[in-house]
Amino acid sequence: MKNTLLLTVYILLFVGCQTTKSQNQEIEQRIDMLLKQMTIEEKVGQMNQYNGFWNVTGPAPEGGSAEKKYEHLRKGWVGSMLSVRGVKEVRAVQKIAVEETRLGIPLIIGFDVIHGYKTLSPIPLAEAASWDLEAIKKSAETAAAEASASGINWTFGPMVDISRDARWGRVMEGAGEDPFLGSKVAEARVKGFQGDDLSAVNTIAACAKHFAAYGFSESGKEYNTVDIGTSTLHNIVLPPFKAAVDAGVKTLMNSFNEINGIPSTGSSYLQRDILKDAWHFDGFVVSDWGSLNEMITWGYAKDTREAAKITVTAGSDMDMEGYVYIEELAQLVKDGVIKEYLLDDAVRRILRVKFELGLFDNPYKYCDEAREKETIGNPKNHEAVLDMAKKSIVLLKNKNHLLPLKKEGQKIALIGTLAADKNSPLGSWRIAADDNTAVSVLEGMQHYKGNILTYAKGADVTTEKAEFVHEVKINTTDKSGFAEALAVAKQSDVVVMVLGENGFQTGEARSRTNLLLPGVQQELLEEVYKVNPNIVLVLNNGRPLAINWADEHIPTIVEAWQLGTETGNAVAQVLYGDYNPSGKLPMTFPRNVGQVPIYYNYKNTGRPTNKDNNVFWSHYTDVEKTPLYPFGYGLSYTTFEYSNLKLEGNSFKIGDDINVSVTLKNTGKVTGKEVVQLYIRDLYASITRPVKELKGFELVELKAGETKTIHFTLNNKTLGFYDNDGKYIVEPGDFKVFVGGSSIASLEADFTLN
Ligand code: NOJ
Repeated sequence: MKNTLLLTVYILLFVGCQTTKSQNQEIEQRIDMLLKQMTIEEKVGQMNQYNGFWNVTGPAPEGGSAEKKYEHLRKGWVGSMLSVRGVKEVRAVQKIAVEETRLGIPLIIGFDVIHGYKTLSPIPLAEAASWDLEAIKKSAETAAAEASASGINWTFGPMVDISRDARWGRVMEGAGEDPFLGSKVAEARVKGFQGDDLSAVNTIAACAKHFAAYGFSESGKEYNTVDIGTSTLHNIVLPPFKAAVDAGVKTLMNSFNEINGIPSTGSSYLQRDILKDAWHFDGFVVSDWGSLNEMITWGYAKDTREAAKITVTAGSDMDMEGYVYIEELAQLVKDGVIKEYLLDDAVRRILRVKFELGLFDNPYKYCDEAREKETIGNPKNHEAVLDMAKKSIVLLKNKNHLLPLKKEGQKIALIGTLAADKNSPLGSWRIAADDNTAVSVLEGMQHYKGNILTYAKGADVTTEKAEFVHEVKINTTDKSGFAEALAVAKQSDVVVMVLGENGFQTGEARSRTNLLLPGVQQELLEEVYKVNPNIVLVLNNGRPLAINWADEHIPTIVEAWQLGTETGNAVAQVLYGDYNPSGKLPMTFPRNVGQVPIYYNYKNTGRPTNKDNNVFWSHYTDVEKTPLYPFGYGLSYTTFEYSNLKLEGNSFKIGDDINVSVTLKNTGKVTGKEVVQLYIRDLYASITRPVKELKGFELVELKAGETKTIHFTLNNKTLGFYDNDGKYIVEPGDFKVFVGGSSIASLEADFTLN
């Protein structure tokens, strides 16, 4: 019986492979035929992407760049458009491409679907805090369903940039500091967006960005120079991109930064040698917005002609709103400066994705008004983002069990402008979401009727809408709301304070040089503490903050990030204990900004400090060297005990599977989930290795008193590292294994690899 079943599975797999193979062959043949018919200008057109340019359902534009774009579209000189959305609009531009141009090649429609489309999930950094790969995949599926129903078939996500620098505003958009977690999240997101069948109507092509090392911009300043060694590049920066490629991601976006002197957009090393040659990536690379022109400002190309030559040679296939390819490429080919096969290669890649999306078979497949109406904002999507939001919350401190809140008989003060904010929880990457559509914390808490809830603003965070304004100008200094807040706090049993950043204080071009609570919020916190120390501090922020004072004084701290549309319901359910939090930090929280970059997988110095920090070597003289909260850290309303870390032996051969097990017990009174984390240390290697590296994790749910044995397997995939030529090697030597509920993981075992 078992054998028959297995045989059936093999046959199905074999037939499946053959079908895919013949489908692929058919696509390549159709591309060959198209390429033969295309003029040089039409080929360049496929490599040209324009931003949405006028209300396409209205009259045709007259004059200016919109008119030019329209004209190009009708000539078949536009391969893609971004930020056109809504079935009506998408259908209108697609109609021009398909019905008015000579070859009728459909457009691929791109959009920044970063954490949802209309119904928003938590910001990506928050989602990563769930360590729940199924939930993260589901969140991307929901986003894809809504976006595709709105005519979109390509997202500029996931951002898979690793960053160790909380000053950088875009940390909110990634999965944090760790390449292992980052790779798993990248894979989940790609699979969620693209599904099993890219041609299905509810899936969209994904785009792993920004290739590469954007998160390593010097001093956390946006778009800044990146100067990193090959070990960091290969072992830290590139793995999530590789994971995305292995998961079948269809496109990559190159990054705005230069890396070791070469702008990424013009880097053959990254785009040809690594991505397309070594990794066999057969999708296409889109530039970031106008970055081909930036080759000139960088001082890497003298004019747009040279920029086009460098970038097309380097493997940058599509020019996003830069006008460089459309203006220069055809002439460069005609002048014999570049060979036409470079264009053919880029166009083949772009057409391939369009074929795989099914756009040639039905260019209007994403343009179905009935589906648009039914899908966008569907209650199922709200349920999905609420689930994700609850899973993203991290309990940082819960002294005296102030949480969960009692459901009856309490006077609760709710303080902070963010508590009533319906906009900020949506974050800054929310183009398709309507303003003020998040459930606020105030609204979420109002669903619980057993207590008396009184709200007082206390203080604003910013003086005006923070979009595109420099933070220094917008943090408020107004303390006129303090008195009311103090009065409310004084007469309450518990004070819930919602403090943090405005949603527009993180994201692109929103770097900060301090990581404190912006504006007068710290003062507000300290003043309220004086009248009532029973404070539950709920943080809303898009990056790690330095909250030393709060950690020292405030009994209970909840990291609630920006959780999207269902923010208030998620926070209220956690505060009232209807959901037991299980999130773990995907980024280290520093004690102060001077410690940044700070991360758990650092290298030892030649003079490390000892455990008690009493040797005067590698440390600071004014603050402890340790972080405030380490990577992987987070509490629950229950407690867990780790024991019995076991390896099946202590000497293994390279290539062996090394089985590791550990016992986890829920020692508290309620059911809870724990992220069991496994780290290794390679003690001696030909290139020094970090003091700890995450190599496995599992999210485990246990009832009160329940015990479970958790199994991990280490092998060549997890025990090696990249050398300085980017070659993956596994070396013999001594290793340590650590297991626990954060990167502090204190259970330890040793083994040798021969
Ligand atoms: C610039 C951003 O860096 C990139 O991530 C985004 O996808 C594009 N703009 C398009 O909006």
